[in-house]
Amino acid sequence: LGQGLGRALLAGRPAAFTIHLRGGLGAGKTELARALLLALGHSGRVPSPTYTLVEPYTAAGYRVLHVDLYRLRDPGDLDDLGLVDDLGPGTIALVEWPEQAGGRLPPADLLITLEVSGSGRNATLQPQSAGGRALLAGLGNGTA
Ligand SMILES: Nc1ncnc2c1ncn2[C@@H]1O[C@H](COP(=O)(O)OP(=O)(O)OP(=O)(O)O)[C@@H](O)[C@H]1O
Ligand SMILES: [Mg+2]
Repeated sequence: LGQGLGRALLAGRPAAFTIHLRGGLGAGKTELARALLLALGHSGRVPSPTYTLVEPYTAAGYRVLHVDLYRLRDPGDLDDLGLVDDLGPGTIALVEWPEQAGGRLPPADLLITLEVSGSGRNATLQPQSAGGRALLAGLGNGTA
């Protein structure tokens, strides 16, 4: 799924895109972000942003921000991260634990909810914008 989303982003080339990744501890949010970054052409490590909260990358001409808000103590601390200001054109944001922001994040283009299912995972994809719907169409029509 992460690879397919990465390929759909390459095909659709949105100006900016934000994915919120929901699901409990170990649901597979970081793993999905890794696969997406790989599909965008990133070849280095993708450490979990658990302690840094934000890990920035450059891939496919985008600034990609991999975010994990699990350890955000107070939604007000988001301002110190400067994250919301960074979500402009040219940026792809992959946000784990977006609910920790207490509603202070701009809406996502795509909300993905992951659940453990045996040794695999179930994913529910909910587009939240026209851009999100366009990306999902790209996922399903074979261009991804
Ligand atoms: N689709 C999958 N199928 C099987 N195993 C998976 C899948 N996705 C992730 N895993 C495994 O589940 C474990 C946890 O994955 P991951 O670190 O991506 O979870 P997470 O949702 O980011 O957790 P956290 O909330 O702690 O950040 C890892 O060992 C990973 O290899
Ligand atoms: Mg994680």
